[in-house]
Amino acid sequence: MSQFQSIDVADFYDSETFARIQEFAKDKATPFVVIDTNIIAKQYDDMVTNFPFANVYYAVKANPAKEILTLLKDKGSNFDIASIYELDMVMAVGVTADRVSFGNTIKKRKDVRAFYERGVRLFASDSEADLRMIAEEAPGSKVYVRILTEGSQTADWPLSRKFGCQNEMAYELLALAKELGLDPYGISFHVGSQQRDIGAWDAAIGKVKVLFDRLREDHGIVLKMINMGGGFPANYIDKTNQLGVYAQQIKHFLKEDFGDELPEIILEPGRSLISNAGVLISEVVLISRKSHTALERWVYTDVGKFSGLIETMDEAIKYPIFTEKKGELDKCVIAGPTCDSADIMYEHYAYGLPADLAIGDRLYWLTAGAYTTTYSAVCFNGFPPLKDYYL
Ligand SMILES: Cc1ncc(COP(=O)(O)O)c(C=O)c1O
Repeated sequence: MSQFQSIDVADFYDSETFARIQEFAKDKATPFVVIDTNIIAKQYDDMVTNFPFANVYYAVKANPAKEILTLLKDKGSNFDIASIYELDMVMAVGVTADRVSFGNTIKKRKDVRAFYERGVRLFASDSEADLRMIAEEAPGSKVYVRILTEGSQTADWPLSRKFGCQNEMAYELLALAKELGLDPYGISFHVGSQQRDIGAWDAAIGKVKVLFDRLREDHGIVLKMINMGGGFPANYIDKTNQLGVYAQQIKHFLKEDFGDELPEIILEPGRSLISNAGVLISEVVLISRKSHTALERWVYTDVGKFSGLIETMDEAIKYPIFTEKKGELDKCVIAGPTCDSADIMYEHYAYGLPADLAIGDRLYWLTAGAYTTTYSAVCFNGFPPLKDYYL
């Protein structure tokens, strides 16, 4: 048996969907991503069915294509926004300000003002300077404070340290928010993207509960909302539980701490809604060995870390890679096309590609709809940004 994992497309797409994507892709010049919006619709419906008590705020950063924003707007989603530019994008497709949360804790004063002038009244914060600025530029708005969470070891793409503050500081900020005339509305957290340990939500919800209780007892502040962020899984090589298992467990954690009187619950899925819907198609540019006796082949492809695959950094996200060749799998290093030695996607993980793989063959990077198009550099080594098509 091969030591390498062979990829069965059926584990990721039904045969009709994959055939449609292949057919659509067949005459187009690589590299590009094809996104099947039917899958996004289904993923959104799954999210709503599994979390009927929650309001979904799509994390626009995962993929801000207007086809996706329009679809999710029509389905009733709200939007988690990271910048004034994303606000422009969602408003351009007709999303109203009452469906927007400014979720970035790092923001310029002029942007806070612009959000407020355009009607947004829901802001995240995790520091005193930011909170005071919100009070000045967006008076009376609802604010939620982001707390730090554990779980970075079990998330494939951790978001710890940079965002959020310790519970004690969150407590002080929410009390200060009231003093500043803001509406201390709730708490947020993000347990890390592609979080495989569902227990990470348990610990975070426990911390939230302490804050709810202390603020009510000490300051008469009744918080109304928990924003549980993203972190829900997409279907990469490393398997995760199904979304239904996440939902069941998280419901249980919420009930343990909050009983039947749940506050408003917000979810901000990005990856879990979009990734499965996209296939990135690239072409093999060169196959070589470093010596006549070297055991591993180097497979260079026309997409790389700088054209959409930055989440392969430290081999964090392991995309399933499919080829039409059927030869025995053989160890290889997979690298991108630029003259930068950081542009190597996989070197340590046992990726095997068929021994008969040839220059010009296509590689299909499955589950690549999220965090690919927007991460792509605009002109590194002259290469244009990654193209995207929507079915
Ligand atoms: C504030 C916030 N919410 C939601 C998300 C989306 O997370 P995911 O893609 O894991 O669903 C992110 C991702 O960076 C985020 O920063």
